[in-house]
Amino acid sequence: MAAPGQKVVLITGCSSGIGLWIATLLAKDEQQRYYVIATMRNLQKKERLLEAVGEAYGKTLSLFTLDVCSDESVSECISSIKDRHIDILINNAGVGLVSPVECVSMEEVRSVFETNVFGVIRMIKAVIPDMKKRRAGHIIVISSTMGLQGVVFNDVYAASKFAVEGFCESLAVQLLKFNINVSMIEPGPVHTEFELKMTEGIYQKDYPGCDAETLHYFKNVYLPASVDVFQTLGQSPQQIAMSTKQVMETRRPRFRTLTNPLYTPLVALKMADESGDLSVRSLHHLLFNLGGVMKLSMNTLKCLTCVCVRSRTVQPD
Ligand SMILES: NC(=O)c1ccc[n+]([C@@H]2O[C@H](COP(=O)([O-])OP(=O)(O)OC[C@H]3O[C@@H](n4cnc5c(N)ncnc54)[C@H](OP(=O)(O)O)[C@@H]3O)[C@@H](O)[C@H]2O)c1
Repeated sequence: MAAPGQKVVLITGCSSGIGLWIATLLAKDEQQRYYVIATMRNLQKKERLLEAVGEAYGKTLSLFTLDVCSDESVSECISSIKDRHIDILINNAGVGLVSPVECVSMEEVRSVFETNVFGVIRMIKAVIPDMKKRRAGHIIVISSTMGLQGVVFNDVYAASKFAVEGFCESLAVQLLKFNINVSMIEPGPVHTEFELKMTEGIYQKDYPGCDAETLHYFKNVYLPASVDVFQTLGQSPQQIAMSTKQVMETRRPRFRTLTNPLYTPLVALKMADESGDLSVRSLHHLLFNLGGVMKLSMNTLKCLTCVCVRSRTVQPD
């Protein structure tokens, strides 16, 4: 149970990746400011988290079952928390999907939305009545840069993250009236099982209904480029956990945090041209016509936005 003065933080999807590292970072906070309710849909996957948190388990962290796709599971979990009191909700659970859209069944589309969109809405609906009563709370959503800028062959996943962005952007305005903050964490690529789960067996898989030309672009152009992007720009889940903790600890938590500054130009490109053509055509050109120089562009971008270059520009002496 949380000690007086500790903030109760509920996190979804803590069996691996970003959720696991946020739970670990908060549970190991030196000043023990947090009591973490780490949740996962399958408690058989708890070992990695327990190994990472070590002695904090049972002191500043407890484990609960929670499937964000189930009304019953969400209600059972929240009701078992003392006074239903949650100071900070971190919506992290999510699934990816990468494929030419014509080979994706509507069931698969629904399943992505069930977790990434309805799961987030279900969790938020469950916690806001109590937060409103207390006139305090913070809701954090692990979104994605793909909630701001679509990426080829990630159509369904990007649509789910756009949906969550729209939902939160709207809700944030109302909740401020009740002193409840909403924050979106928007990582680019992160080295977790997410990437593996999405790409596992992708080369062997059949893509019924997909023409040979599209399949060629998917397997021979997009997938190698995506591997390059992950290798060049990928962050660690620990970095995302740090950014999330920083957002939690500011007096006026920011609404949006792009964890990877290398993605700022991509988002700016979209905003710079109201027709939308600049970003669509530039991304098309970059992937299909300039594949060879794409890696070089990414490395240049990395250099230009590097902290050492930026500090030299800001502080000439
Ligand atoms: N990795 C990236 O490149 C990246 C980039 C931007 C944003 N994100 C976002 O970051 C979040 C975390 O992803 P990650 O990279 O840490 O991937 P991950 O290692 O695959 O973790 C995803 C977590 O979500 C859980 N989950 C899936 N469906 C669930 C459900 N119905 N109920 C409860 N938990 C469920 C998974 O549990 P199981 O183990 O049971 O499947 C797992 O614990 C996601 O929202 C993702 O969209 C990831």
